[in-house]
Amino acid sequence: MTLSTRHLLGIKDLNAQDISLILQTAQQFKEVLQRPIKKVPSLRDITIVNLFFENSTRTRISFELAEKRLSADTISFSASGSSVSKGETLLDTVNNILSMKVDMVVMRHSASGAPHFLAKHIPAAIINAGDGINEHPTQALLDAFSMQEKFGSLQGLKVAIIGDIMHSRVAQSNIYLLSKMGAEVVVCGPPTLIPKYIAQAFDVRVEYNLQKTLEWCDVANVLRIQLERQNQVLFSSLREYNLAYGISKNILNGLSKSVTIMHPGPINRGVELDSDVADSDQSIILQQVENGVAVRMAVLYLLANRTN
Ligand code: CP
Repeated sequence: MTLSTRHLLGIKDLNAQDISLILQTAQQFKEVLQRPIKKVPSLRDITIVNLFFENSTRTRISFELAEKRLSADTISFSASGSSVSKGETLLDTVNNILSMKVDMVVMRHSASGAPHFLAKHIPAAIINAGDGINEHPTQALLDAFSMQEKFGSLQGLKVAIIGDIMHSRVAQSNIYLLSKMGAEVVVCGPPTLIPKYIAQAFDVRVEYNLQKTLEWCDVANVLRIQLERQNQVLFSSLREYNLAYGISKNILNGLSKSVTIMHPGPINRGVELDSDVADSDQSIILQQVENGVAVRMAVLYLLANRTN
């Protein structure tokens, strides 16, 4: 089986078979990662460049590790310290790198659509590692893998995405994926951080009350306030946000059921999540990070096979 697309630009472009194939392949790679020797020769002779024009901890390390586990040759590039600061365009930067015979590009960029632009102009396979407020497809895939691992299936699972929906590429990719895989999705947050027409545009329900949302859901995927993407005041203060939408152990203990807590990171402790929740048994945040390596190995492997 192969993917229906030669790039991974967004979950929007994948069908349910593609998503299932990635999750099944990731399961096989997760088993490889439990072995004493965690390296396989699957991508020997494939050269991958990681282009990070925006900061990252988890995604960048996870991709680099996934590439090394697959025996690919890798180069990592950060915009800071490069000739981008001298005014070089994105296309010139990438074409110069590609002239050194690169097969695949993993790219994070603050501009929504930057990887789509590259895919139109260069022959290498492109993987979107997060573009502006558009999509973060491998985050949604690792979130889905982690939910499937915990609950057995995504079909009928009740997932709440809580927080800054407006500026979150993680929210958008999760909504696409969960809808395609038969989960039920509620988005919850202050009205100013939820796009006005989201319920018409996507298969989601909007809820403004945190308590009601938590009583409904099996999983709460909690997002941080993306202050760096906001150019206006959309809520009064982080303290007030925490009072209305912050998840504390007290709130969870008052529910009639146990809710699984997820977060893509980085966490703003004491704002969207209290430490005793983030570090509790109900949280699968570090399992998400662990699963990210296997999921990214699956994506790289399947796309490399697609281009060969
Ligand atoms: N989840 C995520 O994208 O984290 P980083 O920004 O650290 O890569």
